[in-house]
Amino acid sequence: MARALQLARRMLDNGEASTSVRGKPLGLATAHTSALVGLEAHAVRVEASSTRGPSFFQLVGLAEAAVRESRVRVQSALAGMGILIDEYAITVNLAPADLRKSAAALDLAIAVAVLGAIGKLPTGALSELLLIGELSLDGRVCSIRGVLPQLEGARARGTRAAIVPRENAAEAGLVSGLEVFVTGSLEEVVDHLAGRRRLSRARRTEFKPSSGETVQGDLSEVRGQHVARRALEIAAAGGHNLLLLGPPGGGKTLLARLLPTILPPLTFDEALETTAIHSVAGLVDADRGIVSERPYRAPHHSVSDAGLVGGGDVPRPGEVSLAHNGVLFLDEFAEFRRSTLEVLRQPLEDGRVFIARARARAWFPARPLMVAAVNPCPCGYHGHPRRDCRCSERLRLRYQARLSGPLLDRIDIHVAVPPVDVAALTSGTRGESSAAVRSRVNAARELQHQRFAAGLVAAPLNSQLSASELERVADLESDGKRLLEAAVSQLGLSARAFVRIRRVARTIADLEGSAELLAPHVAEAIQGRLLDRQSLG
Ligand SMILES: Nc1ncnc2c1ncn2[C@@H]1O[C@H](COP(=O)(O)OP(=O)(O)O)[C@@H](O)[C@H]1O
Ligand SMILES: [Mg+2]
Repeated sequence: MARALQLARRMLDNGEASTSVRGKPLGLATAHTSALVGLEAHAVRVEASSTRGPSFFQLVGLAEAAVRESRVRVQSALAGMGILIDEYAITVNLAPADLRKSAAALDLAIAVAVLGAIGKLPTGALSELLLIGELSLDGRVCSIRGVLPQLEGARARGTRAAIVPRENAAEAGLVSGLEVFVTGSLEEVVDHLAGRRRLSRARRTEFKPSSGETVQGDLSEVRGQHVARRALEIAAAGGHNLLLLGPPGGGKTLLARLLPTILPPLTFDEALETTAIHSVAGLVDADRGIVSERPYRAPHHSVSDAGLVGGGDVPRPGEVSLAHNGVLFLDEFAEFRRSTLEVLRQPLEDGRVFIARARARAWFPARPLMVAAVNPCPCGYHGHPRRDCRCSERLRLRYQARLSGPLLDRIDIHVAVPPVDVAALTSGTRGESSAAVRSRVNAARELQHQRFAAGLVAAPLNSQLSASELERVADLESDGKRLLEAAVSQLGLSARAFVRIRRVARTIADLEGSAELLAPHVAEAIQGRLLDRQSLG
């Protein structure tokens, strides 16, 4: 068989579509599809050859279980069209061989290549065409994951046209620059390629950015909690990670859930990036085809490491990537396993996750705004003005020790969320609306963007600035400098904390529209680092 394959290859190179070897008819066809490594689509060539002879159908080119199953589906789908391949010896080679490919999305290209190789299809149209879709046993073409990144990859490679499952039409309609056809069955594809009946095109999918008020609620629901609301606004404005600390019922979960409503709406590029990640995870709504709201992900503390940061043989994104461009809320932060929090460190520093596997190194974007919520002790009521804490001293100290990890050190703002004031809850005065806060957040982000656009800094958000960039854009006047120096020496703050305070101070100044960093900005930023010491004793 290796000989037949070699021969087939040589003939493909010579551009011969079909000829005969020692009197036996031999057909050849190549179809094009792709496989994803992270969000990168790699071209996959499906080469099929057929001879009349002992009946077999083999797939080579590092075919994993899923690809072997695809053989069954292809055979059955062809039989459904009245095409029996028993009388042929068929070899399908998936190239390049060293690329990990286990997606059912290869089915359609395999079936079409086989049909070409046994002379049931003209092969001329296949060279410029990307085929992606999973086949059901009866020949329907079913939806797949990762349509958007695969089409974007094909466009980047210069592919002219693509055929994708009709169920993925809305997502496919996001891509321009290549002709995208949609199909519901293998038979329709065959008719299209044979020139009998043209497939319909994917219609352009409209993008309407949304701030998510409709599903998330509005900040005006939050009564009292002025300090926490202010911290939420600063976090949103500068992209700073936030720790909320307080007893149960204070509104920590409520505040975190409302954070997306004060963030600016997604830009189209952010929406595409977010959609691509969600698509690889199979989470894009088929009718809408696009993620148009900032994601809000709140994994339970029992989440696995892979669930949180991604993993798998064919890598899938985890929660930290699904929350990219949105909010990652870690409730009951102290209950997460230490090892789990440990794996979050690298993505939070780098803004992306690397998943290393034997054959591929995939990466996914991972730049969410992280909000962590913790109780002050296991029972939750340590330091509560009206309720008694039931925890022993030892238990409480052990719990608090869990909060002093290096991850906590990477959270820019720490804020207390005290028990809600009953008067505030019943007073009837509503807090400021999400829209009002969002307009200030937008203005502060605009100032950051201007510095970025002017080339002063390498990132559009203060939370991403390096110490040397801060020297340039967060210059301290003498009072602010004295204040910060005093804080560092008297409170024993680390160098890391020093940088974080400066970043947050820059954002506070931006919220006030102030180019200069003044002492009050620094003072408020220092407040946001002291909390854990005060409330945790
Ligand atoms: N400041 C507040 N304003 C309005 N409602 C609140 C406030 N704090 C808590 N609540 C309400 O109390 C309930 C519990 O709040 P939650 O956010 O779950 O508290 P926590 O996460 O701190 O335990 C929620 O239904 C929320 O609507
Ligand atoms: Mg809660």
